[in-house]
Formats: sequence, structure tokens, C-alpha cells
Amino acid sequence: MSTLLFCFSATGNSLTTARLLAKELPDCTVVPIPSLRNRAEISVCADAVGFIYPIYYSDMPALMRSVIRSMNFENNPYIFSVCTCRGHFGNVAQRMDALLRERGQHLHCSLSVRLPGNSRISTPEQNAEMLAAQADAVHAVAQTLLTYPEEDHFVSPAPEPSPVDKPCNMRSMESEDHCIGCGICASVCPMDNIRIENGRALMGDNCLSCMACFHWCPEKAIWMRTAEEDIRRRFQYHHPDVTLQDMLSMK
Ligand SMILES: Cc1cc2nc3c(=O)[nH]c(=O)nc-3n(C[C@H](O)[C@H](O)[C@H](O)COP(=O)(O)O)c2cc1C
Ligand code: SF4
Ligand code: SF4
Repeated sequence: MSTLLFCFSATGNSLTTARLLAKELPDCTVVPIPSLRNRAEISVCADAVGFIYPIYYSDMPALMRSVIRSMNFENNPYIFSVCTCRGHFGNVAQRMDALLRERGQHLHCSLSVRLPGNSRISTPEQNAEMLAAQADAVHAVAQTLLTYPEEDHFVSPAPEPSPVDKPCNMRSMESEDHCIGCGICASVCPMDNIRIENGRALMGDNCLSCMACFHWCPEKAIWMRTAEEDIRRRFQYHHPDVTLQDMLSMK
């Protein structure tokens, strides 16, 4: 029994979840989704295939959609989804199921792990509570998956159009005057959407709103232009068990 675990993560919640899960699932390999971004065709061959990713606006990151649309499933694997989120995952299972049906497959099981938010930031106490519960939550997910349950996610007609179907500047990221041009944001961006010009980070139009650049900037020089509460007043966050190097190695 072999398992492939495709993972997207901007601040480590999903990456640490994938690492924990990989220890419990048989013959499991974790594949970073950003590393597949420019592949026109992706051949997928395993007995079980999982997707681990953060929720953005009750949906999966747009990059997941384009990567799954490039996948050719060599057999009919058992396919599962594990999202990480602060608490609201909407109908992501139906969206994932509809996407997989475009590839001649379907979603067998959908689970979630609650972890600190990296957009709307929770309190330190809430974060500590969620982080402390992560290992048990992932163990419970693994125990469920090892029974290879079947759920019916198919809904017809398809759910509401996805709000994040295409990369877009939903809340455009910008660098501030005190940017030192170090390039960390450009290196960590899963879409290669940032370039450094004249010692300053410039964002393009191919943004997932993943906020990796915001959270990993050593100078706190990135903010989101948003109609909501000024994000500059929010905290930077990353999962305590990941490093910048971990995130860079996902590309
Ligand atoms: C743009 C954006 C939108 C988000 N939308 C949701 C949401 O709709 N529901 C939710 O529970 N969490 C939401 N979150 C929080 C993330 O899903 C959550 O923090 C996730 O675990 C981050 O995973 P990562 O560390 O692997 O990137 C959002 C985060 C971002 C950056
Ligand atoms: S990581 Fe921050 S300081 Fe470095 S180039 Fe990007 S915005 Fe500027
Ligand atoms: S520009 Fe920032 S928010 Fe947009 S995709 Fe790149 S790292 Fe993510």
C-alpha cells in the first residue's frame, strides 16, 4: 500500500500536519504542491492519494486547483482531503470532489484539523490551545483514514463558483518604504509573484493571497491593502515547528 500526500502550506500548519500524518500512513511520501506548479502533466501513481492544504475563503488555494487539473491518475486510488483551518472550511469537500470528477476520479473522504489562523489572527491562548491539540487531532485523522472510509460528497449541480478559482490580488500585497530588498519574500512566494527592483519588493498580479510573504518578511515590511481592519496591526505567524528553510524547500 503506497500513499502520496500532496501538500500546500504558507505558514507551516499544513506542512506539519502532513509530516505527522506521513508517519502514520503506510509507505507515505509528501510532495510539495508548489514544486509541481509549472508541470503541464503530472502522473500520479499510488494506492492512496491525499491533499493537505489551508482553507482560503472556504475553498482550497487556487494553485491546488491548477495542479489537480494537470494530474493524470494512473489507477483509481483512494483519494482523501485534509484541510487545516481556523474553523470554517465551507463546502471544500464538494469543491474538491467536483474538481476530481473533472479528472475521472472522486473524493473518498474529507477531514480537517483546526489550527491557528494566519489571516484573521487568533489570540495567543487560542493559538496555544490549537497547537497543543494538533498531534492528537492528526492521530485521529490517521486512525480514520486507515479504515479507508467512503463518503458521498457528490452534489449536483456543482457548488457555488469558487471565489479563488484563479490567482488574483484579492487583497493586494504591497511592500513598505522600510523594505530592505533582501528577497526572502520573493524566495518564499509559491507563485514567483515577487521581484526585487531597486532594492524593493514589487508584487505582480499572480497572487494566491497565501500571505507567506507577509508572515516571513524579517522587516515586517509587507502589508495587505484591504478594506478590512488594517492588517499591519495583526501579528506575524508561522507554526513553531517550521523554519523559513522548510518553506523554501517546498518550491
Ligand atoms: C487569505 C486567507 C483566507 C483564509 N480563509 C479562511 C477561511 O475561510 N476559514 C478558515 O477557517 N481559515 C481561513 N484562513 C486561515 C488558514 O486556513 C489557516 O490558518 C491555515 O491553517 C494556514 O495553513 P498553512 O500554515 O499551512 O498555510 C485563511 C487564511 C488566509 C491567508
Ligand atoms: S522580505 Fe521584506 S524586507 Fe525582504 S525584500 Fe521582501 S518585503 Fe523587503
Ligand atoms: S505575493 Fe505573497 S501572498 Fe501572494 S502568492 Fe506570493 S507569497 Fe503568497
